Amino acid sequence: MSGPNTSYDPVEVGALTPESIDAAVSDALAAIAAAAALDELKAARLAHAGEKSPLALANREIGALPPSAKAEAGKRVGQARGRVGGALKERQAQLEAERDERILLEETIDVTVAGPGRAIGARHPLSLTIERIQDVFVAMGWEIAEGPEVEAEWFNFDALNFAPDHPAREMHDTFFVDPPDSGLVLRTHTSPVQARALLQLDTSGLRKELPIYVAVPGRVYRTDELDATHTPVFHQIEGLAVDKGLTMAHLKGTLDHLARTHFGADLRTRLRPAFFPFTEPSAEMDFECWVCHGEDPSCRTCGGTGWIEWGGCGMVNRNVLVACGVDPDVYTGFAFGMGIDRSIMLRNGVSDMHDIVEGDARFSAAFGMEV
Ligand code: DAH
Repeated sequence: MSGPNTSYDPVEVGALTPESIDAAVSDALAAIAAAAALDELKAARLAHAGEKSPLALANREIGALPPSAKAEAGKRVGQARGRVGGALKERQAQLEAERDERILLEETIDVTVAGPGRAIGARHPLSLTIERIQDVFVAMGWEIAEGPEVEAEWFNFDALNFAPDHPAREMHDTFFVDPPDSGLVLRTHTSPVQARALLQLDTSGLRKELPIYVAVPGRVYRTDELDATHTPVFHQIEGLAVDKGLTMAHLKGTLDHLARTHFGADLRTRLRPAFFPFTEPSAEMDFECWVCHGEDPSCRTCGGTGWIEWGGCGMVNRNVLVACGVDPDVYTGFAFGMGIDRSIMLRNGVSDMHDIVEGDARFSAAFGMEV
Protein backbone atom coordinates (compact mmCIF):
# COMPACT_ATOMS: atom_id res chain seq x y z
CA MET A 1 0.00 0.00 0.00
CA SER A 2 1.35 3.40 -0.77
CA GLY A 3 0.92 6.30 1.72
CA PRO A 4 -0.80 9.64 1.07
CA ASN A 5 0.66 11.68 -1.66
CA THR A 6 2.38 14.24 0.51
CA SER A 7 4.07 15.91 -2.37
CA TYR A 8 0.68 16.84 -3.95
CA ASP A 9 0.29 20.60 -3.98
CA PRO A 10 -3.36 21.70 -3.75
CA VAL A 11 -2.54 25.10 -5.14
CA GLU A 12 -1.86 23.34 -8.40
CA VAL A 13 -5.52 22.09 -8.66
CA GLY A 14 -6.79 24.72 -11.05
CA ALA A 15 -10.48 24.40 -10.20
CA LEU A 16 -9.81 25.20 -6.56
CA THR A 17 -7.77 28.38 -6.87
CA PRO A 18 -9.45 31.38 -5.26
CA GLU A 19 -9.46 33.07 -8.66
CA SER A 20 -11.32 30.30 -10.43
CA ILE A 21 -13.79 29.94 -7.57
CA ASP A 22 -14.38 33.70 -7.64
CA ALA A 23 -14.73 33.61 -11.40
CA ALA A 24 -17.24 30.74 -11.15
CA VAL A 25 -19.19 32.70 -8.52
CA SER A 26 -19.28 35.93 -10.50
CA ASP A 27 -20.27 34.01 -13.67
CA ALA A 28 -23.03 32.38 -11.69
CA LEU A 29 -24.25 35.64 -10.11
CA ALA A 30 -24.22 37.37 -13.50
CA ALA A 31 -26.23 34.58 -15.08
CA ILE A 32 -28.70 34.58 -12.18
CA ALA A 33 -29.15 38.32 -12.36
CA ALA A 34 -29.60 38.12 -16.13
CA ALA A 35 -32.30 35.46 -15.89
CA ALA A 36 -35.45 37.34 -16.81
CA ALA A 37 -37.85 34.45 -16.40
CA LEU A 38 -38.19 31.29 -14.39
CA ASP A 39 -37.12 29.00 -17.21
CA GLU A 40 -33.99 31.08 -17.78
CA LEU A 41 -33.25 30.83 -14.06
CA LYS A 42 -33.69 27.08 -14.29
CA ALA A 43 -31.05 26.97 -17.02
CA ALA A 44 -28.73 29.18 -14.92
CA ARG A 45 -29.24 26.86 -11.92
CA LEU A 46 -28.29 23.85 -14.01
CA ALA A 47 -25.21 25.54 -15.47
CA HIS A 48 -23.90 27.11 -12.26
CA ALA A 49 -25.19 24.96 -9.40
CA GLY A 50 -25.92 21.68 -11.17
CA GLU A 51 -23.85 18.51 -11.00
CA LYS A 52 -21.67 19.53 -13.90
CA SER A 53 -21.21 23.17 -12.86
CA PRO A 54 -17.67 24.47 -12.19
CA LEU A 55 -18.41 24.74 -8.44
CA ALA A 56 -19.69 21.15 -8.26
CA LEU A 57 -16.60 19.97 -10.10
CA ALA A 58 -14.41 22.01 -7.72
CA ASN A 59 -16.22 20.46 -4.77
CA ARG A 60 -15.43 17.04 -6.10
CA GLU A 61 -11.74 17.91 -6.33
CA ILE A 62 -11.59 18.55 -2.56
CA GLY A 63 -11.67 14.83 -1.87
CA ALA A 64 -8.35 14.39 -3.58
CA LEU A 65 -6.59 17.05 -1.44
CA PRO A 66 -4.27 16.21 1.43
CA PRO A 67 -6.09 16.58 4.78
CA SER A 68 -4.23 19.78 5.60
CA ALA A 69 -5.60 21.53 2.53
CA LYS A 70 -9.14 20.10 2.65
CA ALA A 71 -10.54 22.47 5.26
CA GLU A 72 -9.61 25.67 3.58
CA ALA A 73 -10.62 24.50 0.11
CA GLY A 74 -13.86 23.14 1.55
CA LYS A 75 -14.61 26.44 3.21
CA ARG A 76 -13.90 28.37 0.04
CA VAL A 77 -16.04 26.15 -2.15
CA GLY A 78 -18.78 25.93 0.48
CA GLN A 79 -19.01 29.70 0.79
CA ALA A 80 -19.03 30.06 -2.98
CA ARG A 81 -21.83 27.52 -3.35
CA GLY A 82 -23.71 29.21 -0.51
CA ARG A 83 -23.58 32.57 -2.26
CA VAL A 84 -24.74 31.09 -5.53
CA GLY A 85 -27.50 29.13 -3.78
CA GLY A 86 -28.64 32.26 -1.93
CA ALA A 87 -28.69 34.31 -5.10
CA LEU A 88 -30.67 31.59 -6.84
CA LYS A 89 -33.20 31.48 -4.05
CA GLU A 90 -33.59 35.22 -3.98
CA ARG A 91 -33.98 35.51 -7.77
CA GLN A 92 -36.40 32.60 -7.76
CA ALA A 93 -38.58 34.38 -5.21
CA GLN A 94 -38.39 37.63 -7.21
CA LEU A 95 -39.30 35.99 -10.50
CA GLU A 96 -42.15 34.02 -8.91
CA ALA A 97 -43.54 37.20 -7.40
CA GLU A 98 -43.29 38.94 -10.77
CA ARG A 99 -45.00 36.00 -12.47
CA ASP A 100 -47.82 35.96 -9.91
CA GLU A 101 -48.38 39.65 -10.33
CA ARG A 102 -48.46 39.32 -14.10
CA ILE A 103 -50.93 36.43 -13.95
CA LEU A 104 -53.18 38.42 -11.66
CA LEU A 105 -53.17 41.27 -14.14
CA GLU A 106 -53.49 39.14 -17.26
CA GLU A 107 -56.21 36.94 -15.89
CA THR A 108 -58.25 39.66 -14.33
CA ILE A 109 -61.93 39.29 -15.10
CA ASP A 110 -63.79 42.52 -15.52
CA VAL A 111 -67.17 41.58 -14.17
CA THR A 112 -68.61 44.83 -15.43
CA VAL A 113 -67.94 44.06 -19.11
CA ALA A 114 -71.13 43.20 -20.98
CA GLY A 115 -71.33 39.51 -21.94
CA PRO A 116 -71.38 38.34 -25.55
CA GLY A 117 -75.18 38.18 -25.35
CA ARG A 118 -77.53 35.71 -26.96
CA ALA A 119 -79.84 36.60 -29.78
CA ILE A 120 -83.38 36.69 -28.49
CA GLY A 121 -85.78 34.59 -30.54
CA ALA A 122 -89.12 35.85 -31.70
CA ARG A 123 -92.56 34.34 -31.92
CA HIS A 124 -93.49 33.31 -35.44
CA PRO A 125 -96.04 35.67 -36.97
CA LEU A 126 -98.27 32.65 -37.62
CA SER A 127 -98.44 31.84 -33.91
CA LEU A 128 -99.08 35.47 -33.05
CA THR A 129 -101.83 35.82 -35.65
CA ILE A 130 -103.53 32.62 -34.52
CA GLU A 131 -103.44 33.79 -30.90
CA ARG A 132 -104.78 37.16 -31.82
CA ILE A 133 -107.68 35.69 -33.82
CA GLN A 134 -108.42 33.26 -30.98
CA ASP A 135 -108.59 36.21 -28.60
CA VAL A 136 -111.24 37.84 -30.78
CA PHE A 137 -113.41 34.73 -30.55
CA VAL A 138 -112.80 34.13 -26.86
CA ALA A 139 -113.87 37.73 -26.23
CA MET A 140 -117.17 36.91 -27.98
CA GLY A 141 -117.65 33.89 -25.72
CA TRP A 142 -116.64 31.24 -28.28
CA GLU A 143 -114.71 28.10 -27.38
CA ILE A 144 -111.41 27.16 -29.02
CA ALA A 145 -111.13 23.58 -30.26
CA GLU A 146 -108.52 21.45 -31.98
CA GLY A 147 -108.64 18.31 -34.07
CA PRO A 148 -106.16 15.73 -35.35
CA GLU A 149 -104.01 16.47 -38.39
CA VAL A 150 -104.11 12.81 -39.42
CA GLU A 151 -107.84 12.61 -39.89
CA ALA A 152 -110.41 9.98 -40.76
CA GLU A 153 -111.56 10.34 -44.34
CA TRP A 154 -115.09 10.18 -42.96
CA PHE A 155 -114.63 13.39 -40.95
CA ASN A 156 -112.62 15.14 -43.65
CA PHE A 157 -115.09 14.37 -46.45
CA ASP A 158 -118.13 12.14 -45.76
CA ALA A 159 -119.45 13.93 -42.68
CA LEU A 160 -119.11 17.18 -44.59
CA ASN A 161 -121.35 16.01 -47.44
CA PHE A 162 -118.57 15.50 -49.99
CA ALA A 163 -119.91 13.08 -52.59
CA PRO A 164 -117.76 9.94 -53.02
CA ASP A 165 -116.60 11.24 -56.41
CA HIS A 166 -115.90 14.83 -55.27
CA PRO A 167 -112.73 16.07 -56.97
CA ALA A 168 -111.17 17.21 -53.68
CA ARG A 169 -110.76 13.55 -52.75
CA GLU A 170 -108.52 12.98 -55.75
CA MET A 171 -104.88 12.15 -55.36
CA HIS A 172 -103.81 15.54 -56.71
CA ASP A 173 -105.28 17.36 -53.70
CA THR A 174 -105.17 15.03 -50.75
CA PHE A 175 -102.34 13.27 -48.94
CA PHE A 176 -103.63 9.77 -48.26
CA VAL A 177 -102.08 7.81 -45.42
CA ASP A 178 -100.66 4.35 -46.15
CA PRO A 179 -101.94 1.68 -46.44
CA PRO A 180 -104.45 2.86 -49.08
CA ASP A 181 -107.38 1.31 -47.21
CA SER A 182 -106.42 2.96 -43.88
CA GLY A 183 -109.29 5.39 -44.26
CA LEU A 184 -106.93 8.16 -43.09
CA VAL A 185 -105.80 11.38 -44.76
CA LEU A 186 -103.80 14.41 -43.72
CA ARG A 187 -106.70 16.80 -43.22
CA THR A 188 -107.17 19.08 -46.20
CA HIS A 189 -108.99 21.71 -44.15
CA THR A 190 -110.04 22.44 -40.57
CA SER A 191 -113.70 21.81 -41.42
CA PRO A 192 -113.69 18.18 -40.11
CA VAL A 193 -113.46 19.68 -36.63
CA GLN A 194 -116.98 21.03 -37.25
CA ALA A 195 -118.24 17.45 -37.24
CA ARG A 196 -116.01 16.52 -34.32
CA ALA A 197 -117.26 19.46 -32.28
CA LEU A 198 -120.89 18.57 -33.01
CA LEU A 199 -120.31 14.93 -32.08
CA GLN A 200 -118.15 15.70 -29.07
CA LEU A 201 -118.97 13.56 -26.09
CA ASP A 202 -118.81 14.78 -22.56
CA THR A 203 -117.54 12.53 -19.77
CA SER A 204 -120.99 11.04 -19.21
CA GLY A 205 -121.03 9.83 -22.82
CA LEU A 206 -123.68 12.32 -23.88
CA ARG A 207 -123.26 14.92 -26.60
CA LYS A 208 -122.47 18.37 -25.34
CA GLU A 209 -125.42 20.66 -25.12
CA LEU A 210 -126.18 22.91 -28.04
CA PRO A 211 -125.78 25.75 -28.83
CA ILE A 212 -122.15 25.56 -29.84
CA TYR A 213 -119.82 28.38 -30.84
CA VAL A 214 -116.37 27.13 -31.63
CA ALA A 215 -113.24 28.44 -33.40
CA VAL A 216 -110.63 25.99 -34.64
CA PRO A 217 -107.15 27.09 -35.68
CA GLY A 218 -104.89 24.46 -37.17
CA ARG A 219 -102.49 23.11 -39.73
CA VAL A 220 -103.81 21.61 -42.96
CA TYR A 221 -102.22 19.78 -45.90
CA ARG A 222 -102.63 19.70 -49.66
CA THR A 223 -100.42 18.27 -52.37
CA ASP A 224 -99.14 21.62 -53.59
CA GLU A 225 -95.50 22.30 -54.38
CA LEU A 226 -93.80 24.89 -52.20
CA ASP A 227 -93.35 28.06 -54.23
CA ALA A 228 -93.73 31.81 -53.68
CA THR A 229 -97.50 31.59 -53.19
CA HIS A 230 -98.19 27.93 -52.31
CA THR A 231 -97.19 25.56 -49.55
CA PRO A 232 -98.27 21.95 -48.93
CA VAL A 233 -98.72 22.76 -45.23
CA PHE A 234 -100.66 25.84 -44.29
CA HIS A 235 -103.00 27.14 -41.60
CA GLN A 236 -106.68 27.84 -41.39
CA ILE A 237 -109.08 29.11 -38.80
CA GLU A 238 -112.49 27.54 -38.84
CA GLY A 239 -115.59 28.86 -37.18
CA LEU A 240 -118.82 27.02 -36.41
CA ALA A 241 -121.92 28.29 -34.67
CA VAL A 242 -125.00 26.09 -34.26
CA ASP A 243 -127.94 27.57 -32.40
CA LYS A 244 -131.62 28.24 -32.79
CA GLY A 245 -132.46 30.95 -35.29
CA LEU A 246 -129.01 31.69 -36.73
CA THR A 247 -129.02 33.39 -40.14
CA MET A 248 -126.56 34.71 -42.72
CA ALA A 249 -126.80 38.06 -40.93
CA HIS A 250 -125.12 36.54 -37.87
CA LEU A 251 -122.40 35.11 -40.11
CA LYS A 252 -121.83 38.46 -41.78
CA GLY A 253 -121.76 40.30 -38.44
CA THR A 254 -119.20 37.86 -37.03
CA LEU A 255 -116.92 38.19 -40.06
CA ASP A 256 -117.19 41.98 -40.07
CA HIS A 257 -116.17 42.00 -36.42
CA LEU A 258 -113.19 39.74 -37.07
CA ALA A 259 -112.08 41.79 -40.07
CA ARG A 260 -112.25 45.02 -38.08
CA THR A 261 -110.41 43.74 -35.04
CA HIS A 262 -107.78 42.04 -37.14
CA PHE A 263 -107.23 44.44 -40.01
CA GLY A 264 -108.50 47.76 -38.72
CA ALA A 265 -111.61 49.76 -37.97
CA ASP A 266 -114.38 50.23 -40.53
CA LEU A 267 -113.28 47.44 -42.84
CA ARG A 268 -116.22 45.96 -44.67
CA THR A 269 -116.59 42.35 -45.80
CA ARG A 270 -118.64 41.06 -48.68
CA LEU A 271 -120.03 37.67 -49.58
CA ARG A 272 -120.01 36.27 -53.12
CA PRO A 273 -122.03 33.18 -54.06
CA ALA A 274 -119.93 30.01 -54.08
CA PHE A 275 -120.27 26.28 -53.56
CA PHE A 276 -119.06 24.08 -50.69
CA PRO A 277 -120.64 20.68 -50.04
CA PHE A 278 -121.04 21.37 -46.34
CA THR A 279 -122.75 24.75 -46.52
CA GLU A 280 -125.96 25.85 -48.25
CA PRO A 281 -126.06 28.62 -49.23
CA SER A 282 -122.28 29.01 -49.57
CA ALA A 283 -120.21 32.10 -50.14
CA GLU A 284 -116.69 33.30 -50.64
CA MET A 285 -115.85 36.05 -48.24
CA ASP A 286 -113.74 39.02 -49.17
CA PHE A 287 -112.70 41.92 -47.02
CA GLU A 288 -112.20 45.43 -48.18
CA CYS A 289 -108.61 46.29 -49.10
CA TRP A 290 -107.27 48.07 -46.05
CA VAL A 291 -104.60 49.80 -48.10
CA CYS A 292 -106.61 51.57 -50.82
CA HIS A 293 -110.25 50.94 -49.76
CA GLY A 294 -111.00 50.39 -53.43
CA GLU A 295 -109.75 53.79 -54.47
CA ASP A 296 -106.46 52.91 -56.16
CA PRO A 297 -106.72 50.92 -59.42
CA SER A 298 -102.98 50.23 -59.25
CA CYS A 299 -102.99 49.02 -55.60
CA ARG A 300 -100.48 46.16 -55.21
CA THR A 301 -102.23 44.65 -52.19
CA CYS A 302 -105.64 44.02 -53.80
CA GLY A 303 -104.64 44.23 -57.46
CA GLY A 304 -106.89 47.23 -57.86
CA THR A 305 -110.15 45.35 -57.18
CA GLY A 306 -110.62 46.90 -53.72
CA TRP A 307 -111.33 43.46 -52.23
CA ILE A 308 -109.15 40.68 -50.85
CA GLU A 309 -110.28 37.05 -50.85
CA TRP A 310 -110.29 35.64 -47.36
CA GLY A 311 -111.99 32.25 -47.33
CA GLY A 312 -115.25 30.32 -47.59
CA CYS A 313 -118.38 30.39 -45.48
CA GLY A 314 -122.06 29.64 -45.44
CA MET A 315 -124.99 28.19 -43.54
CA VAL A 316 -124.26 24.65 -42.33
CA ASN A 317 -125.78 22.15 -44.77
CA ARG A 318 -128.72 20.18 -43.34
CA ASN A 319 -126.94 16.96 -44.32
CA VAL A 320 -124.01 17.85 -42.07
CA LEU A 321 -126.32 18.56 -39.13
CA VAL A 322 -128.08 15.23 -39.70
CA ALA A 323 -124.77 13.33 -40.01
CA CYS A 324 -123.82 14.78 -36.64
CA GLY A 325 -127.14 13.99 -34.96
CA VAL A 326 -128.47 17.56 -34.86
CA ASP A 327 -132.10 18.21 -35.78
CA PRO A 328 -131.96 20.68 -38.72
CA ASP A 329 -135.59 21.68 -38.14
CA VAL A 330 -134.68 23.04 -34.71
CA TYR A 331 -131.14 24.26 -35.17
CA THR A 332 -129.36 26.21 -37.86
CA GLY A 333 -125.70 27.04 -38.06
CA PHE A 334 -123.15 29.08 -39.90
CA ALA A 335 -119.54 28.23 -40.62
CA PHE A 336 -116.49 29.82 -42.13
CA GLY A 337 -112.86 28.96 -42.79
CA MET A 338 -110.01 31.13 -43.90
CA GLY A 339 -106.33 30.83 -44.67
CA ILE A 340 -104.05 32.40 -42.11
CA ASP A 341 -100.76 32.25 -44.02
CA ARG A 342 -102.26 34.19 -46.89
CA SER A 343 -103.70 36.87 -44.66
CA ILE A 344 -100.26 37.35 -43.06
CA MET A 345 -98.69 37.71 -46.50
CA LEU A 346 -101.26 40.33 -47.43
CA ARG A 347 -101.31 42.12 -44.11
CA ASN A 348 -97.55 42.27 -43.66
CA GLY A 349 -96.42 42.60 -47.25
CA VAL A 350 -94.65 39.21 -47.28
CA SER A 351 -94.12 38.42 -50.94
CA ASP A 352 -92.61 34.94 -50.69
CA MET A 353 -94.21 31.97 -48.91
CA HIS A 354 -90.73 30.53 -48.31
CA ASP A 355 -90.20 33.21 -45.67
CA ILE A 356 -93.24 31.99 -43.75
CA VAL A 357 -92.35 28.30 -43.78
CA GLU A 358 -88.59 28.33 -43.42
CA GLY A 359 -88.51 29.36 -39.76
CA ASP A 360 -85.61 31.81 -40.06
CA ALA A 361 -85.56 33.70 -36.75
CA ARG A 362 -84.60 36.88 -38.59
CA PHE A 363 -87.93 36.79 -40.43
CA SER A 364 -89.87 36.36 -37.18
CA ALA A 365 -87.76 39.00 -35.44
CA ALA A 366 -88.62 41.48 -38.16
CA PHE A 367 -92.17 41.36 -36.87
CA GLY A 368 -90.94 41.75 -33.29
CA MET A 369 -93.29 40.30 -30.77
CA GLU A 370 -96.35 41.76 -32.38
CA VAL A 371 -97.66 41.53 -35.94
N1 DAH B 1 -112.90 24.22 -45.76
C1 DAH B 1 -112.96 25.13 -46.88
C2 DAH B 1 -111.63 25.12 -47.61
O1 DAH B 1 -110.65 24.73 -47.05
C3 DAH B 1 -113.24 26.54 -46.42
C4 DAH B 1 -114.61 26.68 -45.86
C5 DAH B 1 -115.66 26.99 -46.69
C6 DAH B 1 -114.85 26.48 -44.52
C7 DAH B 1 -116.94 27.14 -46.19
C8 DAH B 1 -116.12 26.62 -43.99
C9 DAH B 1 -117.15 26.95 -44.86
O2 DAH B 1 -116.42 26.45 -42.70
O3 DAH B 1 -118.40 27.10 -44.32
O4 DAH B 1 -111.59 25.53 -48.74
